This record gives sequence, C-alpha cells and structure tokens, in this order.
Amino acid sequence: MKQVNVGIIGFGTVGAGTAEILLKNREIIKKRVGLDIILKRVADLDLDSDRGITLPQGVLSNDAAGLLNDPEIDIVVELIGGLTTAKQFISTALKNGKHVVTANKALLAEFGSELYGIASQKGVNLAYEAAVGGGMPVIVALREGLAANNTTTIMGILNGTSNYILTRMSKDGLPYEEAVEGAIKLGYAEDPPTLDVDGTDAAHKLAILISLAYGAPAPFESIYKEGIDKLTQEDIQFADEFGYCIKLLTVARDLGGEVEARVHPAMLPKGHILSNVNEAFNAVFIEGDYVGPTLYYGQGAGRRPTGSAVVSDIMSIARKIKAGSDMQVCPLGFADPSGQKITIQSMKNLKTAYYFRFSALDKPGVLSKIAGILGEKNISISSVIQKGREIEGVVPIVMLTHEAIEKDVTEALEKIDRLDVLQDKTMMIRVMG
Ligand code: HSE
Repeated sequence: MKQVNVGIIGFGTVGAGTAEILLKNREIIKKRVGLDIILKRVADLDLDSDRGITLPQGVLSNDAAGLLNDPEIDIVVELIGGLTTAKQFISTALKNGKHVVTANKALLAEFGSELYGIASQKGVNLAYEAAVGGGMPVIVALREGLAANNTTTIMGILNGTSNYILTRMSKDGLPYEEAVEGAIKLGYAEDPPTLDVDGTDAAHKLAILISLAYGAPAPFESIYKEGIDKLTQEDIQFADEFGYCIKLLTVARDLGGEVEARVHPAMLPKGHILSNVNEAFNAVFIEGDYVGPTLYYGQGAGRRPTGSAVVSDIMSIARKIKAGSDMQVCPLGFADPSGQKITIQSMKNLKTAYYFRFSALDKPGVLSKIAGILGEKNISISSVIQKGREIEGVVPIVMLTHEAIEKDVTEALEKIDRLDVLQDKTMMIRVMG
C-alpha cells in the first residue's frame, strides 16, 4: 500500500484544523509514517462557509453516507460532536471495517463500551487522542508511555472554558457573569456554556482517563460533578487571603478496590503546580507506582491543537496499516478488558479539608452555634475570618477546616443552614492540601 485515505465527517473548527494539517504538513507526515495520507473526502451539511482552508476540488460534499460506504476510505474521522448521529456514523464506519478517529468525549464517556466492543470485534482501531485535553498527548501517555504502571492519581484542569472564567475572576476581579460573557465573545464557550461550567465536560474527560487507567468503561453517572457557576468574587478573594486559588479540579485516585472520581471547584495552595495553569490552558498530573509524578500541559481546545491530536491518531493508525499485521490496539489499552469493572467511591466517604462561607447575622453567639454543630460532627476548624458589617447586619464568616468526612460535612451544613441566624445557603468548597 502506498497511501492511506481519510474521510472527515464534520468540517467545523476541529474538522478544518485537521484538514489544514493533513494538507499543509503532508510532507512531514509522509516522512514520519512512510506512506502518503490523503484527505479524500470531507462531509458537512454546510458547503458554503469560509473555513480559512481550501480543499482540493471534489473533496467536500454533504454525503456522509457516501463517505462511510466508500471502499477506498481507510480511516473515518468523526468530528460532528453530539451523541445520536455521531454514534450512528461511528458504528457504521466500524462495522464497515474502517478505522475511526473521534474527538467526541461525551459519546465515549457515555457509550464508549458499545463502540469499543464493535471496534474489537471488527479488528479495527477506535482512536480518540483529541477527546481529552485537546493538543496534550495524554491519551497516548496513559495507554503507552505509562503502560508499565498502576495509575495511582490523575489530577487536572481539563476544561479550558472554566479555567479562563476563573482566571478572569481572580486576575481581573470580574464577577462570574462578566467573565462568562468574555469567554463567549472569545469563542471559548458556547452560549450558554452549560456543559463547560457545570462540570459535565470535565467529567466526560475524566471518565475516559479512568477507563484507560483501569481498563474498563467507567460508569460516567457515578462520577461526582459540580460546576463553577455558584462561585462568587467574594469566594475568590477569601481564597486569595488564605493563600489559595480556585480551580475546576478533576481528580481520580486508586483506593484499592474503588476509584475516587470527582470534578468540582477546589481551593489549591498558590504554590501548587496546577495553580499556575491559567487562561484557557489545561494540565493534568498523572502519577504511576513506578514512574512517580508526570505532568502534561497545553491548549485543551481550538482548531490547531485539537487538529494536531486528531492527525496524530490518523498517523498512528496509518503506521499500523502499513505494518499490515496485528493492526488492532484495544481502545482501552488492555488486552482483555471484558472482565474488569470499575467501582466509583461514594462521595459521602471522601476525606478532605473544606472552606465554608456562612452568611450569618452579626449577633453574639452566632459563631458558637456554628462551631458547636461542626464540633458535634467531628469537624475541626483550622482558621476563621469574619469581615466587618456589610449588608443589614449580615456578614460573611469564612472558615477553613482540617480534613473531615464529606458525609459529616453535608449533615452539619444542612443543620447549620436551618439556624435562624443564617441568611443564605452556606458556600462550601473543597480544599486540596
Ligand atoms: N469545551 C472544552 C473546554 C474544549 O472548554 O475545555 C473541548 O473539549
């Protein structure tokens, strides 16, 4: 074989970036792989918009079915996003014996096991480097570079939109709503940016990383997620006074039998390496039992970085096609993942430190009532700040605790929020050491 033919479905931001790299870097790609990778077909319903890249004559059409059934296409690249249609396209391509590359994290997180099963059955590759962390090569790192290890910890910032919003809130003092507007204007966020700011996007990515680390599809619905949409400028400033910054953190840990898996805003000490990941950047820290800590940093979204990841998958499949034998790599990187099962730890059992901001009346005895309830639940306070009188006698009382159990914290806050001296629901943020 002298060439590998590629068909892209979805000529949007990432589709255009992928096409551009395949066309403009064709020579270096050919030298690296040892055969020519040809962009043979691109399918999209929109045939008119300017994507800033001119495709060769006859490549662009609105005929996705024709592309999926074209016997000359070796690799189908799905870049339309969404669940239903994308799933049909990928299943059809795999069943037609074509290798598939996708950036669709939602689809893999929620329906990965079905698609991985079809790929394995048909002996073709289903590759998804672009689904997590855009241009950061974190999938290949977990599946190959770190394959000798038991993964002990994955901790990262995996949603660029939220990270951009939090950066604007902390560096420019913007309220949440204004920071979101800025993210939408710059094209980082959809309008409204629900799946980014409510933690779903990061949880999809975490599900994929957990599946790779532990060799079985992660039960996405069991992953705890909480977004940044309740955070206020006040919390950003209090965190700063305590020496922390707030990030939307993605965490997985091997607890031996269970996996801790959660996405939520977290306070990180300013000196923590992830505290210095700002703007729309992503970073992920992965620790293995033998390799120790490793760190990946880069642009988690956008035409060029995500296109770079998609093309890296196309190239690695092309190398396998060239080699001609034993082409299929199990999508989760385990030879036989069928017997494995991942159990996610209940959040009730999480043990961490906490930040509380109580909106309380400024009256004698309030602090002791709050402290009393925390004490009953074995929650030990490490610092307290009370700011001067603000709105009609309501003041923020801010506390940091030592490590406590989440179940106790939830129960204590329910009881505290029922006190008549509390004027609003208490804000709770988990604190990382
Ligand atoms: N919407 C994602 C983010 C990028 O903001 O990080 C695509 O995964």
